[in-house]
Amino acid sequence: MTSQTTSPLTSLAPIGENSPGAEWWRTAVIYQVYPRSFADASGDGIGDLRGVTAHLSDLQELGVDAVWLSPFYRSPQHDAGYDVADYCDVDPLFGTLADFDEMLAAAHARGIRIIVDLVPNHSSDQHVWFREALAAAPGSAARARYLFRDGRGEGGDLPPNNWESVFGGPAWTRTTNPDDTPGQWYLHLFDSTQPDFDWSNPEVQEQFRGILRFWLDRGVDGFRVDVAHGLIKTDGLPDHVPAVDGDSMGGHDEAPYWAQDGVHEIYRDWHRVLAEYDGDRALCAEAWLPTVDRTAEWVRPDEMHQAFNFPYLMTEWDAPAIREVIAESLRAFPAVGAPATWVLSNHDVVRHASRLALTAENPQGHGIGPDSPGQPIPEVGLRRARAATTVMLALPGSAYLYQGEELGLPEVIDLPGDARQDPTWFRTDGERYGRDGCRVPIPWTADAPAYGFSPGGESWLPQPAEWATLARDVQEQDPESTLWLYRTLLATRRAEGLGAGRLEWTLGYGDDVIAFRTSTGSVTEGVTVIANISDAPIELPHGTVLAASEAFDGAHLPVDVAVWMHAG
Ligand code: GLC
Repeated sequence: MTSQTTSPLTSLAPIGENSPGAEWWRTAVIYQVYPRSFADASGDGIGDLRGVTAHLSDLQELGVDAVWLSPFYRSPQHDAGYDVADYCDVDPLFGTLADFDEMLAAAHARGIRIIVDLVPNHSSDQHVWFREALAAAPGSAARARYLFRDGRGEGGDLPPNNWESVFGGPAWTRTTNPDDTPGQWYLHLFDSTQPDFDWSNPEVQEQFRGILRFWLDRGVDGFRVDVAHGLIKTDGLPDHVPAVDGDSMGGHDEAPYWAQDGVHEIYRDWHRVLAEYDGDRALCAEAWLPTVDRTAEWVRPDEMHQAFNFPYLMTEWDAPAIREVIAESLRAFPAVGAPATWVLSNHDVVRHASRLALTAENPQGHGIGPDSPGQPIPEVGLRRARAATTVMLALPGSAYLYQGEELGLPEVIDLPGDARQDPTWFRTDGERYGRDGCRVPIPWTADAPAYGFSPGGESWLPQPAEWATLARDVQEQDPESTLWLYRTLLATRRAEGLGAGRLEWTLGYGDDVIAFRTSTGSVTEGVTVIANISDAPIELPHGTVLAASEAFDGAHLPVDVAVWMHAG
């Protein structure tokens, strides 16, 4: 290689510098379990809590520190459980509270922490409060827990304002009075079965304090907070005049329902509730905001503990852009005393083994189908995904993994229309495919029915035939599999203390290469990380390869490959 110099960027505040403690969530690798697609013990084709318990040993073997469980609460499942009818009970689809307690105890016994999903922006329309609200008169206390308004225009025939649902169509639905005449409208930023709470109402605030305590008392280690940027709406619910066309959840935070100042008071309140408990319980914000600086506002010292780094997730496969978002993250989060977080996939976005090879823009939540533009080439996507994960897991801070990415699962693009279940698909008449393609149940065993997902061979979304080769038991046997890559990265990350490391950029490889060294200070040399996003192989420094996203000759790093080394 040519002139290699190691030069710390002075603008970077290494994690640790502003960190008051060594709480687990500052460095944890947290694995998202999407319960309905993880493992089905009951045999009905939908995953459940006993399925999670049965596979905790696999997660321990993988080497994760914690699990984030997507919703398993009582719900009519119009938005896969993000429409909650009872926040303090388990839906029979997923099991019982006793199954939850058993899973939590079994996870803790293995040293795995559990954070659960909290959905405070809206409930299900089957929540007892919403049913009471519908039965009550306009202006009543029961209606004041949600956002009911009279319509505009003659006879109140028009919605109260022009807001649109994130899933497509209007954000308002009109009610019918007991005498069958048209009634008031209620707000739902998502599906019409997900009415928004009115968070200025003290009863709503008190209900959620109680819900937090219910799960904290049971022993959960924290909460992932759904739509954490949406709870407060601008007074008077004015029309939304977009400055930018497009999907409002992609980060256009000028809307009168996103990122309003008042949300922060709610999280300060919750911070105090969590602080009453021992064991470093944590809150993680799902807040889709356009920049890391905005995102960092959710993790100021008296608010949440972590926020998903969606600007990082949305960054395309481009070295300067990736370096920039890493540098911004390592500046903005530690500046408020919070860890940077990293994430590449979740249940709302096209899996990164496909997304990183897309050649057309795909807004968050829109999904891809057989006729979407810019179809990914699977081999290119997987190679980039493995390299991207290799970069991510070296970064200081906390990282989130989404179930199945350790198998290199791609987005399932050709799901038949009649199998799709995401409300986005229905609310846009099939114009947006939505998120089902990243939610297909995962393959455990190549030769078993439903690839070992469900004993009877059922699967709530069809699994592709090609997934036999991606099944976990097949990958176990192959040292070059994605599963073994993840295991090696996680074990090395732990051994080298990379989550608590400090990062120094390595210059001299050219613009299209990401190169840095990360160390804890206790390990003398630290780990050198190099990812080649250029169009030709690059020569590596001498040293020992600790992990690589693809097998290579050890001297010339091929295109779209990332390596961890002890250089020198
Ligand atoms: C969040 C969830 C998503 C859900 C939406 C409404 O974005 O991650 O799956 O549909 O909120 O609750």
